[in-house]
Amino acid sequence: MPQIAPSILAANFARLGEEIRAVEQGGAQLLHVDVMDGHFVPNISIGVPVVSSLRKATALPLDVHLMIEEPERYIEAFAEAGADLISVHVEATPHLHRALGMIRERGLRAGAVVNPATPVGALNEVLGSVDLVLVMSVNPGFGGQKFIPGTLEKIRELAERRARYNHSYRIEVDGGIGPENAADVVRAGAEILVAGTSIFHSPDAAESVRQLQRIADAALAQRV
Ligand code: DX5
Ligand code: ZN
Repeated sequence: MPQIAPSILAANFARLGEEIRAVEQGGAQLLHVDVMDGHFVPNISIGVPVVSSLRKATALPLDVHLMIEEPERYIEAFAEAGADLISVHVEATPHLHRALGMIRERGLRAGAVVNPATPVGALNEVLGSVDLVLVMSVNPGFGGQKFIPGTLEKIRELAERRARYNHSYRIEVDGGIGPENAADVVRAGAEILVAGTSIFHSPDAAESVRQLQRIADAALAQRV
């Protein structure tokens, strides 16, 4: 079943607890946490202390998306803070294989991320040892951007490659996801849909999660 991962970047940080309860009620299965350093991406967001607080506030798995240079330096800290899943960008480190190994050694699930300009082939050597591949469907750094349609082909390519080589990673898509394109990304092969603006800027966050889930479930039923 496809999973909806609300991105708290679009939430009201002054009311984060309530915002999280709303998406829990809507049936969200992961909480997506965007960590930005002002170097790898042109924005600064949240860090380790917020992940520690989230860990106490929810039982949902924390899906930590590191948009930081040299992510290896912070893996230990985010693992300690309570991340369940940590994703690192292939563009952010010359040692992606090592970074993923560090995450898995700590018993966490490891994800590899590609920016819109990076072909999925950049991940070929690590696809056998990742739990997740995260395909950026916007240039990372900000919420509320427009979905880049070429992403669909990258998702298809990852799904085909997984079948061909018997890999087991899940495919996650992040950026500009809403009711208008959720079916397309699921039909292409995505299993985890990150959504910030379309959930937290809607009048009813819980209902927006339910709506995305319904659309994603229906698209999956068409696919198989
Ligand atoms: C972008 C982040 C996304 C972002 C998605 O850099 O990685 O997770 O919060 O937000 P929306 O859904 O608003 O595009
Ligand atoms: Zn993200």
